Amino acid sequence: MKIDLSLIGMEKGRQYETIISTVNLDKQKNAAPIGVICSGSDKILCRIFKGSHTLDNILSTKEFIVNITYDPELFQISTIENLPKNYFNEDGSIINAGAYFKCSVSEFKEAIKQSDPIKKDGEAIVIKAKVTDLVINYPIKAFNRGFGYVIESLANFTRYELVDEKQKKKYIKEFKEAQRIVNKVGYPSEIKAMKEIKKRYGI
Ligand SMILES: Cc1cc2nc3c(=O)[nH]c(=O)nc-3n(C[C@H](O)[C@H](O)[C@H](O)COP(=O)(O)O)c2cc1C
Repeated sequence: MKIDLSLIGMEKGRQYETIISTVNLDKQKNAAPIGVICSGSDKILCRIFKGSHTLDNILSTKEFIVNITYDPELFQISTIENLPKNYFNEDGSIINAGAYFKCSVSEFKEAIKQSDPIKKDGEAIVIKAKVTDLVINYPIKAFNRGFGYVIESLANFTRYELVDEKQKKKYIKEFKEAQRIVNKVGYPSEIKAMKEIKKRYGI
């Protein structure tokens, strides 16, 4: 069957939050949340900072698995701690992931452009990869951060007139950061919604 990432809601050019699982040369499994950009029906790219196990493992093995899940525990443990062995399937995918796809690296490149607030000397590698297998355990769409920011921004907007000057400043600051992220990762309808909120704030 032809691999088609749109089956899990991934659109070309858009970024999704996933958990990438990898193995090191001793076959020890590791997982970490990573933003993955869909660059075609069977192609993706991601930017991974130097110093992570994930990058080291991908550089060594040239392969990795992208797991699609909405489970906050999986995101929390794999960010702050290490995901224990019993959370992984034999093939290295994460148990209970709604879907996962296996990737084979086609290119590594030093990352140059950085549009986020990471300090300029935070070095990263851009990894381009081809999807070699897609497994869908149940219907699921890859998670995109845009919509959550629109909802948060709207919730703050409705409170704006009810709060003091210090809180107003905080809301504006948060809105600007939210808009930066939505412009980077969101869908056109979310970008439009943020523009409207900005207009209403008069900023
Ligand atoms: C939602 C989310 C998305 C993330 N995206 C990336 C990313 O795209 N690139 C990256 O280098 N780190 C990203 N991180 C940070 C890594 O997951 C984090 O540094 C992790 O601890 C690395 O673990 P490791 O050393 O086991 O690979 C992200 C974290 C979260 C919570």
